[in-house]
Amino acid sequence: MAILVGEEGRLFTLQTADGTYQMYADEKNVLLHTYYGKKIETENMAELICRTDVGFAGNPPEAAGDRTYSLDCLPQELPSGGVGDYREECVCIKHADGSLAADFRFAGYEVRKGAYKLPGLPALYDGGQESDTLVITMREKASDVTAYLYYGVFERENVITRAVRVENNGDKEIVLERCLSACLDFQYGSYDFITFCGRHAMERVPERTAIGRTKLEIGSLRGTSSHQYNPAVICCEATAGEEHGDCYGLCLAYSGNFLACAQMDQRGQTRALMGIHPGRFSYLLKAGESFDAPQVILSYSDEGLTKLSHQYHRILRNHMCRGAYQHSKRPILINNWEATYFDFNGEKILNIARQAAELGIEMLVLDDGWFGKRDSDYSGLGDWYVNERKLGGSLAQLSGKIHDMGMKFGLWLEPEMISEDSDLYRRHPEWAVRIPGREPNRSRSQLVLDLSRGDVRDYLFETLSGLLREASVDYVKWDVNRSTCDVYSNALGRERMGEVSHRLILGMYELLERLLTAFPNLLLEGCSGGGGRFDAGMLYYAPQIWCSDNTDAVNRLQIQYGTSFFYPVSAVGSHVSAVPNHQTGRITSFATRGHVALAGSFGYELDLNKVTEEEKELVKQQVAQFHKYNSLTREGDYYRIQAPGGRFSAWEFVDEAKEHALLTLVMTSAEGNPFPVHIAAKGLDPEKQYRCSVNGQVHSGRTWMNAGLTLARVPGEYESVLIEWEV
Ligand code: DGJ
Repeated sequence: MAILVGEEGRLFTLQTADGTYQMYADEKNVLLHTYYGKKIETENMAELICRTDVGFAGNPPEAAGDRTYSLDCLPQELPSGGVGDYREECVCIKHADGSLAADFRFAGYEVRKGAYKLPGLPALYDGGQESDTLVITMREKASDVTAYLYYGVFERENVITRAVRVENNGDKEIVLERCLSACLDFQYGSYDFITFCGRHAMERVPERTAIGRTKLEIGSLRGTSSHQYNPAVICCEATAGEEHGDCYGLCLAYSGNFLACAQMDQRGQTRALMGIHPGRFSYLLKAGESFDAPQVILSYSDEGLTKLSHQYHRILRNHMCRGAYQHSKRPILINNWEATYFDFNGEKILNIARQAAELGIEMLVLDDGWFGKRDSDYSGLGDWYVNERKLGGSLAQLSGKIHDMGMKFGLWLEPEMISEDSDLYRRHPEWAVRIPGREPNRSRSQLVLDLSRGDVRDYLFETLSGLLREASVDYVKWDVNRSTCDVYSNALGRERMGEVSHRLILGMYELLERLLTAFPNLLLEGCSGGGGRFDAGMLYYAPQIWCSDNTDAVNRLQIQYGTSFFYPVSAVGSHVSAVPNHQTGRITSFATRGHVALAGSFGYELDLNKVTEEEKELVKQQVAQFHKYNSLTREGDYYRIQAPGGRFSAWEFVDEAKEHALLTLVMTSAEGNPFPVHIAAKGLDPEKQYRCSVNGQVHSGRTWMNAGLTLARVPGEYESVLIEWEV
């Protein structure tokens, strides 16, 4: 058991392979956070807390005049608002009398075998035996409100999860004004905050900032986790790098509005918090009702960022992703979006499919524009019935022809949205998210569909399951193409409007769960205008997510680099597209585009009619490469070798047995009379002998990792090289 309980049920030491997380309920029943870091024994680390009288840091009544005891200074597990901890808080409750205060104190605990579940929310799962759960009960001092703190311990994986459930056990209504999922208080040390920021078509670019007294905060109020900020952050020692230093990851398993922040307090202690964004959020809890805050996946690495990433890759691949494709090879797909946009008919699609099948491509994905009145993005969303005139027949017929070619058939859907110019909107204007009496903000000329409503979800389930069944759909690209605003639901009372954003996400999760239960072999690819909803929560439903609408191989180096800090390569949707690239106008070679797309689920997104015979030969070679390397890239350990921004960018995969490694290097600049390119491997077994594919030399792993190799020729700009080591 990885959960050790001491001091008569007041000291909780959570042990993972390399780390320890500890909490202690002190004599006043404040649940102190006493330690998180490199592995220790089970001594009570409350002894690290040094209490002094800090001016203007008040004392709770039980301190009985002891001015050194202040909630404003103590490291805590569930800091709550309005009672004397002036730092950022986890929970804020509005009581029936209008007061805003909460003071949760330890009241008991329970230890269970296996992972906990969260109703309606994604969470890490296991087979019932691979992890342990600790549930701590916290009671609010002056009201009948209980908070349950859930801790999941995945010992081998160095992962600890945290979630919170708040229950109103009283007879009066309360309103949760904020309910964040996790708090990490670091008593000592200086930390940097690494966030992953960006924009549409340029997502998840790392930004590293020293945490000081000025609050660092990122988040989303867009209704999706967003292109702009990813719900996964790292607090690391200021000196930490890829291979050294303490690193703490916080990764939220949630796809909607979120907040992550970090700040140093007046005594130099650092507090990091994560959870649902409290902005435009409130949740009414009537007597007996409860609220579940989503799971934060915490992981600690004592050896820098690479190890932290490996821990996240493994836990997400093995305990978050599910379904038939969790660990298996995904079909190589061809998607018609960048080939045709809205301008296609059935013949054009079949023509692409025919040529693709000949080249070894395994699935045709029919993107936007196949349904209702949808020849542009101004209309049609919600009308999920095929446009037979455009396709020259039914969807089942088209799918049948594609299946007859030996290919799978995939379909684009955007079920969470509605166009005003659609039959669905004309029938059910009340199903759109908009505020009565207020002209809504339109984005891509569409509105959000109110998935908080059961009738809307039932309608979508019936319509979509009929469609998937009739057309024998093997794969769905589930897209979302706007941020949410004008938030309102016609199905809820005014007192519940602060819940709508969260209920939209719960509704989306419920619909996905129903569909995946009905179609267990369906491969779902998440998408939100590319990577606008690339988060651990979506991975519970979709084992792969379209990483970005930007398919430029060179920009992808940056996007896929940032994505790699938390998310496994098996989750990254990546395609070879045409040049000049549609987003940047850049020209890169077919080979380089293929090498970059290999660090992902792999596929094509171009018009095969415009591809030369020579390039078709390259497609065949790339298909063969995909089959050769896919188990390595999909399940192997990923190493960041050289970050983008310099002369070249490089990454490497190593298999579990450390018998095979593949390094990809892409030159991103060129100079006359260039310096040689020298590179070293990572992750090899120092004792094993490896042959290198580029120079045929055999050396020990130690030599390849320490001395490395020099390329005989400096590659030209945007050229790429694959380097393989095999025992
Ligand atoms: C946004 C996606 O990211 C694209 O790949 C494409 O599917 C379009 N939507 C279609 O509208």
